[in-house]
Amino acid sequence: MSTTAPAPATKGLEGVIAGETEICNVEQSALIYRGYEIADLAANATFEEVAFLLLEGHKPSPEELKRFTAELVDARDIPEEAKSFLTHSANLVKNHSGVPMDLLRTAVSICGHLDPDCQDNSADANLRKAKRILAQVPTIIGHMQNNIDGRDFVAHDPDLSHAGNLLWMMTGEKPTAEAEKVMDVSLILYAEHDYNASTFTSRVIAGTLADMHGAMTGAIAALKGPLHGGANEAAMDMLSEIRNDIGPDNDTGKITDWMHKAFEEKRKLMGFGHRVYKSGDHRAPILHGLGRKAAEARGPEFVRLFELGETVQNIMETDKKIYPNVDFPCGMTYFTMGIPVPQYTPIFVASRVSGWAAHIMEQHANNRLIRPRAAYSGPETRKWNG
Ligand code: SDX
Repeated sequence: MSTTAPAPATKGLEGVIAGETEICNVEQSALIYRGYEIADLAANATFEEVAFLLLEGHKPSPEELKRFTAELVDARDIPEEAKSFLTHSANLVKNHSGVPMDLLRTAVSICGHLDPDCQDNSADANLRKAKRILAQVPTIIGHMQNNIDGRDFVAHDPDLSHAGNLLWMMTGEKPTAEAEKVMDVSLILYAEHDYNASTFTSRVIAGTLADMHGAMTGAIAALKGPLHGGANEAAMDMLSEIRNDIGPDNDTGKITDWMHKAFEEKRKLMGFGHRVYKSGDHRAPILHGLGRKAAEARGPEFVRLFELGETVQNIMETDKKIYPNVDFPCGMTYFTMGIPVPQYTPIFVASRVSGWAAHIMEQHANNRLIRPRAAYSGPETRKWNG
C-alpha cells in the first residue's frame, strides 16, 4: 500500500492558512470584525451590537438591536440543574482542585443537556443556542462568584446591559457608568480573533458535526491555558509577584533587575508576545488607556500598578522587542475594577462565546471534517513477536 509522504510539519502550525472565514481578519496592519476596524467598534459600538454583527452577519438596525437585546435578557436564566451545580462552587474551589474556568466549562456543558435544541445543528437552532449561551454565561459566572463569596444568588437586572449585568451579578453592586463602559469595551475587544487556539478547537469539534455546546465546552477548555486566555490572570499574578519581590515603590532599577533575571531564566512573561502580532496588538493600547483612566479615578494605589506595568512594558519593548497583547492591560484593568483574578478568563469567555458561535455556525454551514496529517517520527516498523 503506498501513501503520499506528508510535507514537513510546521511547529504550532505557524503561518499555516487552515481555512477561510468571513468573520474576522487578524493582521499586523488591522483587526477587522466583518469589515469594521476594532478601534471604530470600541469607540462607537456596544458589545450587544458587536455580538449581533458577529452572529447575524451585519450591523443591526435599531429594531433588530432592540429585538436581539430583549432575546438576550429573556435567556439569562440558567436551568435549575446548572444552578444546583454552582451551589458547590465554593466547596469545589476552596476544598478541591476546582477553578472558575473549569466550573464554567462544566456549567455550560450542563446547560447543553437541558437545551431544547442541543442535538439540532440547523442554522436556526444554532443561532438560538448561540444567543442562549451568550446570555447564560454571565449568570453562570455571577452565581459561581456569589457562592464563592457566601452571598445569595443575585438575580439578573433586565434594565442593565450585558456588561453592566455581568458586573452586577458577580458583585451584587450596581456598576457605575464608567465601570460598565470599561467592561463593555473589554468585551468588544475580546469578542473575536479568527483562528486562535480556542476558536480553532471549536471548529475542529463542530467539523465532526458535534453540537454547539460540545464545541463551546472544548473551546473553554482550550482558552483556559496561560499561553492563551489564561494569560490575563497570569499577567496580573506576575505583576503581583513583581510587587511582592521588589516592594511598593516601583523602583526602576529593581524592576529592571527582576526582568533581567526573568530573561536569564528564559521565563515567559505573561501578557506579552503574540503568534500574529509581532509589533503590537491593536487591542492593547485601547484597553490600557481605558484601564489607566479607571485607575486614576480609583486612586494612587491603582495608578502605581499601571506605572509598574508601563515600566515592565518599556523594558520588554526595549530589550526584547516583544509587545503586550490584550491580556496585559486586561489584568491591570480588571484588578482596578475589583474583579477577583480567577474570574478574568471566565469574563473572556463571556465575550468570546460570540466569536466561537459565529465560527461554529460558519463551520456547520459549509462543513468538511478537519483532519490534517502528521509527519511520523517514531520507530521504524518492527515485529511484535521479535
Ligand atoms: C491570546 O492567537 C490569538 O489570537 C490569541 C488571542 C485571542 O484573542 O484569541 O490574541 C488571545 O491568547 C493572547 C496571548 C496570551 N498569551 C501570553 O501572553 C503568554 C505569553 N506569551 C507567549 O508565551 C507567546 O508570545 C505566545 C504563546 C503568545 C505566542 O507564542 P509563539 O508564537 O509560539 O512564539 P514563541 O513562543 O515561539 O516566541 C518567539 C520568541 C521566542 O524566543 P526565541 O526562542 O526565538 O529566542 O519570542 C520569545 C520566545 O522565547 N517570546 C517571549 C514571550 N513571547 C515570545 N519571551 C518572553 N516572554 C514572552 N511572553
